[in-house]
Amino acid sequence: MTRMDHSNVSNVMKPEDTAELRQLYSDFESEHLKPLWTQIDDLMPVVPNPKAVAHVWKWSKLLPLAQRSGDLVPVGRGGERRAIGLANPGLGGRAYISPTLWAAIQYLGPKETAPEHRHAQNAFRFVVEGEGVWTVVNGDPVRMSRGDLLLTPGWHFHGHHNDTDQPMAWIDGLDIPFSYQNDVGFFEFGSERVTDYATPRFSRGERLWCHPGLRPLSELKDTVSSPIGAYRWEHTDRSLTEQLLLEDEGQPATVEQGHAAVRYINPTTGGDVMPTIRAEFHRLRAGTITPSRRDVGSSVFQVFEGAGSVVLNGAEHMLETGDLFVVPSWVACSLRAQTQFDLFSFSDAPIMERLNFARTHIENGDR
Ligand SMILES: [Fe+2]
Repeated sequence: MTRMDHSNVSNVMKPEDTAELRQLYSDFESEHLKPLWTQIDDLMPVVPNPKAVAHVWKWSKLLPLAQRSGDLVPVGRGGERRAIGLANPGLGGRAYISPTLWAAIQYLGPKETAPEHRHAQNAFRFVVEGEGVWTVVNGDPVRMSRGDLLLTPGWHFHGHHNDTDQPMAWIDGLDIPFSYQNDVGFFEFGSERVTDYATPRFSRGERLWCHPGLRPLSELKDTVSSPIGAYRWEHTDRSLTEQLLLEDEGQPATVEQGHAAVRYINPTTGGDVMPTIRAEFHRLRAGTITPSRRDVGSSVFQVFEGAGSVVLNGAEHMLETGDLFVVPSWVACSLRAQTQFDLFSFSDAPIMERLNFARTHIENGDR
């Protein structure tokens, strides 16, 4: 796709550069005015022209740095979390992985507690390795284990505690940049410790909600965010396994040949788990190459297992377990699986869809 700007059209309007014109522009400045005609290419590009850049963070670099933070930086009230944000090199030094999304590696040492708090921002955790931490969300202790997606929707109190003698690291995803840009953030401290140190295998939310296709009749009111605190790996894995087995049997089940995928949903609405964040899991058979696609809005992927690569705007990046990458708006993205390739992903698609900005271009076809 060739990049265009407004000057590609014929009869471009251009005023004559005169002393009067320069004086006019100077008078604009004094009155805090800016003409559209000098900045339209930047403000209203013909196609999205993100300042965020495609970038890969290697787990082999992230984890040792998080471990060193564990040695040097205590966790507690004030800093709140030992979380290290992934800063997109195109976004001027802020810990934004994209204009809407935050991604961080969080590290909790043996027997440590991250105190309770709540904020307007929506959050989740995804666990690529390890176990032994419970996150307590509005008083409900939720076990965190490999492959699980854990939700902390906006304004839910939450704290974490490590019940073991081993440290644990995971990734956090939030809508911090979107909240910051739009000045919608509120924050409140909770208990210095978590309110419940129990370590149940299943949270109360799971016991109530996580029975396939069954809705408790005590819970008929739809909620903006999912009432499920934990989406367990055993369910995600089984769902993807069955999609590929069905494909083997010639049945329609996968999104395209060799590509199984699921979206985590809010069971009260069938929509996304939280109002600003979509979460999905993708599994590619070895050898699968996905068609190159561009989407409005940004997404982040983490390799859960396997080896392969991603081609972002024509540049191929090799990937292995734990590696994260960001796909900024309208950047062409294609995945290539060397082995069976499992990837967790999250995006700002609920924002883009609700505001009617969503658009997708897939090579060899439009959607
Ligand atoms: Fe938090």
